[in-house]
Amino acid sequence: MNIFVTGAGGYIGGSVATALIKKGHKVRGLTRSAVSAEQLKSYGVDPVIGELDDSPLLMREASMADMVINTANADHRGAVEALISGLNQSGKRLIHTSGTSIVGDDARGDFCSDAISSEETALVIDPRKQARRDIDLMVMDAAKKNVHSAVIIPSLIYGYGTGVNKHSIQVPFLVKNALEVGSVQIVGKGLNTWSNIHIDDLVNLYLSVAEQAPPGAFYFAENGEAAFCDVAEAISRRFSIPNIEHLNAEDAVKRWGAARALFTFGSNSRVRSVRAKKELDWRPVHVSVQNWILTGYLPQ
Ligand SMILES: NC(=O)c1ccc[n+]([C@@H]2O[C@H](COP(=O)([O-])OP(=O)(O)OC[C@H]3O[C@@H](n4cnc5c(N)ncnc54)[C@H](OP(=O)(O)O)[C@@H]3O)[C@@H](O)[C@H]2O)c1
Repeated sequence: MNIFVTGAGGYIGGSVATALIKKGHKVRGLTRSAVSAEQLKSYGVDPVIGELDDSPLLMREASMADMVINTANADHRGAVEALISGLNQSGKRLIHTSGTSIVGDDARGDFCSDAISSEETALVIDPRKQARRDIDLMVMDAAKKNVHSAVIIPSLIYGYGTGVNKHSIQVPFLVKNALEVGSVQIVGKGLNTWSNIHIDDLVNLYLSVAEQAPPGAFYFAENGEAAFCDVAEAISRRFSIPNIEHLNAEDAVKRWGAARALFTFGSNSRVRSVRAKKELDWRPVHVSVQNWILTGYLPQ
């Protein structure tokens, strides 16, 4: 198959693209930079230099492809509209990547929420993430235009990617920050809890969705969860940084910005992957981000 992947130079997109190539597919991958384009070639990806804002380009690539996988930006509505237009009435697959901060909260690190979402529960969407959820719903609704659409909603992803960018967002940031400041900093008490998923298991979910998912579905991606105080403890042990520092939310916002302090590291985001396990027989194998930090993590 000819598959168009946005974010092909990124952590998720690069890992998905290399797995597709391994399975014999041809991948055209969107990137903004000539440097990344050269790197993509060495991974077997045919680079397309362009921007998510370039709707004509995205429509053209989508209409030429047998399948589209959008991993570049969960919040870019215009890009998703263009991809859907390019696939309109084609019956071809569109897999869109969202993120579980849609069901985040404003815990500021201070408690572990009882709220756990799955595909079978009513979702309580954080109002600050409603626009992201609206994009998910638009993708699912594209099934009515004969686009074979699906949304994958990953939780915190860990492990090494297999494409150009090998590093995820959350754990590598905490490690780099800890090595720089000499203490493992977390928000508040660090009792806030995120579900998590290893990148290899996540890639297998993309492959299963690409082969088997019915149109209009969404899938949470997780296989375990951890409170940030436990993640911090693992970083502390792995990198021999004894001090764990509890930043109050205001300080964390000043240092890291509001999005990172309040969502990425301060919120709860607890989900269960019920549908993918039941419907697609998806069997993730990695279960512990702490174990990966302790046994597999090398600094960037
Ligand atoms: N990593 C996680 O733990 C996680 C979990 C849940 C959801 N997500 C979501 O999944 C998406 C991808 O995450 P990631 O970890 O793979 O991030 P990433 O490594 O930064 O990859 C995203 C890639 O998208 C491309 N991109 C970004 N903006 C673009 C634009 N305007 N036009 C064209 N290309 C653009 C960039 O490629 P170039 O620089 O080569 O152009 C970048 O390499 C994000 O929306 C993120 O919020 C991530």
